[in-house]
Amino acid sequence: MSVAFYETGPALAQYLVLHYGPPGWQLPSEAFQVLADFPVRCVREGFRWEELPPDPHALELGCSVGRSCFELSRRCRRVVGLDRSEAFIQAARLLQTDGFLRSAVPLEGDRTEEWLFSRPPGVRPERIAFEVGDALSAPCGDPVDLLLAANLLDRVPDPAALLRRCSSLVRPGGQFLLTSPFTWLPEYTPRPHWLLPGSERVAALLEPYFTLLRRWDLPLVLREHPRKFQWCLPEATLWRKKA
Ligand SMILES: C[S@@+](CC[C@H](N)C(=O)[O-])C[C@H]1O[C@@H](n2cnc3c(N)ncnc32)[C@H](O)[C@@H]1O
Repeated sequence: MSVAFYETGPALAQYLVLHYGPPGWQLPSEAFQVLADFPVRCVREGFRWEELPPDPHALELGCSVGRSCFELSRRCRRVVGLDRSEAFIQAARLLQTDGFLRSAVPLEGDRTEEWLFSRPPGVRPERIAFEVGDALSAPCGDPVDLLLAANLLDRVPDPAALLRRCSSLVRPGGQFLLTSPFTWLPEYTPRPHWLLPGSERVAALLEPYFTLLRRWDLPLVLREHPRKFQWCLPEATLWRKKA
């Protein structure tokens, strides 16, 4: 796999199901339903909302097909979602403008089925801007109150540079939620840039700029086809930007 993977049909299907699939599509068994709706859990459980100013501004780097941005729009006046994949941002924009999207999801072999994905009710699409761009370099405007980077760190060529960039994108007192399974792969990140061990190196790189508020596990399941699911256990850390 490489960055090009995120432009493919199978990747689009995996992330549409993860972000917008009803729990029964995301996971075959009721026993696993606590693992459903990862992008929703990031937003609902990931931030200390009571400590934020009213009408905060939010930025998500690596937003994929955009579910967390829709969830952020319930409570934020302005949300920017940035992703390098044109296919993902095109899907997010269709959900934003039309409210639904049909896409093929894998069944078995080359068999697929068209499923309908819908924008969740009660969100504020007019507050969101979805942009195609590189999280390491794209212009991101003024520092924000909330920054989310879910499972992006081990997909960029220079993760330390991404963390330095994140520190500049949050205003003092603002919150930064980082999640990562630390799946270091040379296809995405040259070996000398791997942060090993991830948990310790991330903390060392963020501590000059942020105070750690919380560290926990935020699991998710990616559906590849009806009989194959990837269970991931990203580490989540919530940080507050120092004054
Ligand atoms: C593992 S997926 C995670 C997606 C989403 N945050 C989630 O947790 O469901 C990584 C995402 O990062 C995006 N991505 C990879 N490199 C990027 C970069 N340099 N800048 C912005 N997005 C990038 C991919 O297109 C993909 O959407």
